This record gives sequence, structure tokens and C-alpha cells, in this order.
Amino acid sequence: MPRLDQLLSSLGYCSRREARDWIEDGRVEVAGAIADDAGKKVSPADVRVDGEPLDHPDGLLLLLHKPLGRVCSHELREGPSVYDLLPERWRRRNPGVTSIGRLDKDTSGLLLLTDQTALVHRLTSPKHKVPKVYRATVDRDLSPELVPLFASGTLRLEDEDEDQPCAPAELKLLSPREAELTLTEGRYHQVRRMFAATGSTVLTLHRACFGDLELGDLPPGQWRELPVNHFGG
Ligand code: URA
Repeated sequence: MPRLDQLLSSLGYCSRREARDWIEDGRVEVAGAIADDAGKKVSPADVRVDGEPLDHPDGLLLLLHKPLGRVCSHELREGPSVYDLLPERWRRRNPGVTSIGRLDKDTSGLLLLTDQTALVHRLTSPKHKVPKVYRATVDRDLSPELVPLFASGTLRLEDEDEDQPCAPAELKLLSPREAELTLTEGRYHQVRRMFAATGSTVLTLHRACFGDLELGDLPPGQWRELPVNHFGG
């Protein structure tokens, strides 16, 4: 069990030092009694702050509709970030909330965010092969010959430093300049680079699905909470 001050700080309430003040001020209860010891080992379910149960003590897993123009980065100098959309307390959690893979600044769609470090590693590992569905519009008509080429597992990306070609990907042509592409890999700018390797430029890109998860009608900038064990323990 964690120490009370450590618990409050890891859930983004305050620093460990401030936790001592909060406790002195009588704002924290443990098992129905006003807490008086910042170092007490506690069960998160027993703790109340200002009369409220703790905020997601078992972790966070969020399905965000990433809007265009935001980066998946904690670096302030990279511009407005997806993390700025979240409540401040969640942004102060430790381990911090981070994205499971990334979408480019100019890509919208389904982005998972979590504070579960092991889940990030598991779902971004090349071994895991989670299917991700993208919708792209491009600057010229797409040839039907791209469908078998993308499925072949032989397509090489330009300026590719890895020696492996892209894994087989399912391409569906939706209209002359619009396609749906399902990838099981997550290389840097992969969709844009796959189309570039075949002579077209991606104009708009949106991720509609990640594994069994879909955005549905969630508006841009909004999120849904998922059970933290959605992908298993
Ligand atoms: N492929 C890209 O090119 N960009 C993304 O954001 C995701 C996949």
C-alpha cells in the first residue's frame, strides 16, 4: 500500500509537501476518520479528499478524438498539445498520462491516452500488431493496383533506414481520391510515407479505429473513459 502523501502526489492532487498541509488542515480522511499522518500506508479506496473519493486511483485509460493542430508531445515548444485538453489534475499525475503511439499534428482521430506505462509498451510493441484504421484523402486518383501492392508486404518506404518493407496492409478505395487503410504497424508518418512511396500526397488523414475501438460520434477534443483493464490486465 502507498503512503498517503505519496498517493495524493502520484494522483496529481498536490506535492508530497503540500499533502502534509492538506492533512493538517483536515481536508483528508482515511476510512472515515480525519487523517493525521502523511506517512500512513493507506488503501486508495479508503481515502477521501474534501469529502470526495480519489480521482481514478486505479489508473486512467482515455479514448480521445484528437483534433487537428495538436501534437502528441509534452514539449511546450512543439505547440498546443493533446494533453492541454485534459483536466490539470490528470496532467500532474505520476506516472504521467501519455499517448499510446502518436498521431501527427495534422492528423485527427482516435488516440488512446493512459498512465499505465506497461500498457503503452504492450500496445506499441511491433509484436502486438493491433490493427489501426485510417481514412486518407490524396492529391491524385488512386490506382486499383495499389490494393495488391499494399497487401503484398513488399512496399518499401522512401528514405527508409529500416531494411524491412511494410507489413501487408489492407487498402480499400472509397472514391477516386479517398481510401481506408488498415495497418498493423506504427512507423513514423507511415500512412503519409506509404502513399508518398506510390506517388501521391496525403491531404487529410484521420484515424477511425484502434483495435476493437471506434470513435463513433465523439466530437473532436472530447474523450471517453475506458475501463483501465480494457485490453486485459
Ligand atoms: N501515419 C501517418 O502518416 N500519420 C499519423 O498520424 C499516423 C499514421
